[in-house]
Amino acid sequence: MEYQTLLVEKKAGYTIITLNRPDKLNALNALLLLELAEAAGSVRNDDSTHALIVTGSGTKAFAAGADIAELHEQNAETGAEFARRGQQIFSNIEHIGKPVIAAVNGFALGGGCELALACHVRFCSMNAKFGQPEVNLGIIPGYGGTQRLTRLVGAAKAAELILSGNIIDAQTAASIGLVNSIHTSEELLPFAEKFAQTVAGKAPIAIRAALSAILAAGQTAADAGMETEARHFGVVCGTEDFAEGTAAFLEKRAAVFTGK
Ligand code: COA
Repeated sequence: MEYQTLLVEKKAGYTIITLNRPDKLNALNALLLLELAEAAGSVRNDDSTHALIVTGSGTKAFAAGADIAELHEQNAETGAEFARRGQQIFSNIEHIGKPVIAAVNGFALGGGCELALACHVRFCSMNAKFGQPEVNLGIIPGYGGTQRLTRLVGAAKAAELILSGNIIDAQTAASIGLVNSIHTSEELLPFAEKFAQTVAGKAPIAIRAALSAILAAGQTAADAGMETEARHFGVVCGTEDFAEGTAAFLEKRAAVFTGK
């Protein structure tokens, strides 16, 4: 399918979605969000795609936030729905059931940072910059930033970023756990692709169960999270891939997973 604001590239075992409005630093307008939702839905339903990479076109930005021209049109009646729509799309990406990797190649500001936060891992380039500068516009993060950033880096660091609107560099982002690792611009996508290939080679049902249990950690009390883990553990113990994975180890050969 052709998109106006995205490039979608299907590789062996994984898909790359590139936000593609480089002249606007890949700002997230309504069309881009709609197309992102559609493209992510296709990835969810594609049994031959086992991981998703999200990145931005050009060398300057992952995404410089929600489109401020569109934001400017919001009012007290429309604002909450505007936020809910974006939240829902990012939440669907987070719960896509396959690893989602953000390859952050430049600015990840506002909604761009929130999109990266909805991904399960974040790799970035040395020139990456992160921030939630919404207060500079008289608003607050509306696509999940107050919740996901707080859970990821803790309330004090999240408050520092959200209340000041300060923009931080890649090193600082790594030091607070906002990104997993930093790479040269040339190496960023190859590194993300290598990670995608690694996870795409694992048993898909186990990967989906692991993601679901990890996400439960941020949303439930510890006891309930433990129960979620045990329930998923039971499910994966009933899969053919579990029988294959353990048999392959005992027979000293590589496992061949079928996703069953
Ligand atoms: N929404 C709409 N357009 C945006 C945008 C956004 N969030 N971020 C950048 N753009 C546009 C600019 O308006 C400009 O368009 P133009 O060439 O038609 O004038 C183009 O992208 C390039 O941006 P520019 O500001 O000229 O680049 P810069 O290198 O001088 O500055 C930033 C880069 C990221 C610091 C700056 O663009 C910025 O502050 N963007 C807004 C960040 C923000 O507040 N995001 C949160 C939104 S909730």
